[in-house]
Parts: sequence; C-alpha cells; structure tokens
Amino acid sequence: MPAQLIDGKAVAQSVRDRVRAAVAARVAAGHRPPALATVLVGEDPASEVYVRSKRKACEELGIRSVPVHFDASVTQEQLLAEVDRLNADDSVDGILVQVPLPAQIDTTQVIERIRADKDVDGFHPYNLGRLAQRLPMLRPCTPYGVIELLKSVNEPFKHRTAVVVGASNNVGRPMMLELMLAGATATCCHRFTADVAGEVARADIVVVAVGRPEMVKGAWIKPGATVIDIGINRMPDGKLRGDVEFEAARERAAFITPVPGGVGPMTVAMLMQNTLEAAVLRAK
Ligand code: GUN
Repeated sequence: MPAQLIDGKAVAQSVRDRVRAAVAARVAAGHRPPALATVLVGEDPASEVYVRSKRKACEELGIRSVPVHFDASVTQEQLLAEVDRLNADDSVDGILVQVPLPAQIDTTQVIERIRADKDVDGFHPYNLGRLAQRLPMLRPCTPYGVIELLKSVNEPFKHRTAVVVGASNNVGRPMMLELMLAGATATCCHRFTADVAGEVARADIVVVAVGRPEMVKGAWIKPGATVIDIGINRMPDGKLRGDVEFEAARERAAFITPVPGGVGPMTVAMLMQNTLEAAVLRAK
C-alpha cells in the first residue's frame, strides 16, 4: 500500500488557527498585538515571494507587520543600524532579516546583532545553543515545523532511528538537535558521508534537506519509514520537485510529505507561532 501523505497545509492551518486564537485572547486581555518586523534587501524574486507570504500571514492572524525594505546596495552599517533600531523598539517583538543577503553584507554579523529574544527565525547562536542544551527558547522554524508534522502522525521518536540528509546551519543541524530533543537516535549525512544510501536504509525517520532534486532514491527507504522532504527545487518545466524520489519512496514508506504542500507551509506557520511566543516572553 502506498504511504499516507502528511498534509502540511492542514497541519500548518491548525497551527495558524491556534496562533490566531491566542493572539485574539491576548488582545482581548488588554495587550497590544504581537509585532513582526521583516527586513527585505534587494529584489531577489524568491525572497520577495517568501517575505510577502510572511507579511500576509501576520495580517491574517492579527499580528502587526512592520515591513522594512532596503536597496541591494545597502551597506553593513545601514543594515546594522536598522537592526539596532528594531532591537530598541519596544513595540516590535520579532525581527526577521530575509537571507540570502547581498555579497557586501556579513550575514553572520547581522544575524548575531538581532536580540536573541526577538530572533523569531531561531538563527542566533544563543537560540541554537539553547536548543543544543535541551532548553529551547526561539526554535528554527523549519525544523520546528518538521517536528509538528511528525507529531501529527503520532511519531513516537523514542527508541526510533532518524537520519537527516543535509547539514546546513539553518536546517540540517538544528533538525538534528530537534530530533534528539524529541528522543530519536539521530544520524546526520553530509558531503563526506561514505554511504548515504546505507544510512537512509537503517532509519525509521528520514528527513532530507539538500536542495538537489530526487537525490534520495525511493529504493533506499526502509519499508514502513516516515519520510520528510524539505527540498523545494524548481525544475526546467516550471514544476516543483523535492529532494526525494517521491513516487518510488511512496511505495515503501508508511508516511511521506508531498512537495509542494508538505514542509513548505509549516515554516511560515511556525514563524507566526515564534512571534507570538516572543511577545509572550518579552511581556513577562
Ligand atoms: N530564506 C529562506 N528561508 C528563510 C527563513 O526561514 N528565514 C530567513 N530569514 N530567510 C530565509
């Protein structure tokens, strides 16, 4: 029997409904609405699409959107000055600087300048460190969303093996920390891994974030495994394809995320949840 699809749109909608209700309850109790500043630099079409969907989600959930836009020629000093201004603005709860940034910008310095308690992307080393210490504060949105998807199909995590294919700073590495926090026995594959197929074949949970279409073959999947595909690759025919060979993997897995409609919608939903959490934490 082919795998059951994990409906990311539906899970994301339930997260958004929960956030909308919690925001409304806060406002009814006399608090101001949470506020999210989104900083966009330049005119990269993909970044524009992502930032637009984040701003629209704010409006739909009763979160105040604070849009900031810089020309691609912005200097490091200008960008840092804006982060400093948003850090000091008590009416702003969350700050997101969309990446990638232009080549003249030192991205690490910009991310580290954001106050950790306003870092709703969960990219700041403080927040990654808290996750590594099993004391999470603001958690990276995509890995956090993957955990929500796994919980939606009652993944037990404990006594289960997980493999993360991809070791990026913003996705693969925090994904490892999330899986360990949840109780799974996690392995990470990266460019120097000798036998990716063998590692995948041993795993009860397979999470892939490499950005290469159909890099993980269906035949590698352990029968009955749960497969989470974080990849979104635009093909020459204009269609989107994941990092997993979907049809073949679906024949072996028990649960699998589609692309699109799997992990994609979760990132914005978890960003909204983080913005609410940041507002609650800061009000304390
Ligand atoms: N670029 C692609 N995804 C993201 C994200 O989740 N946050 C930020 N800040 N930039 C991104």
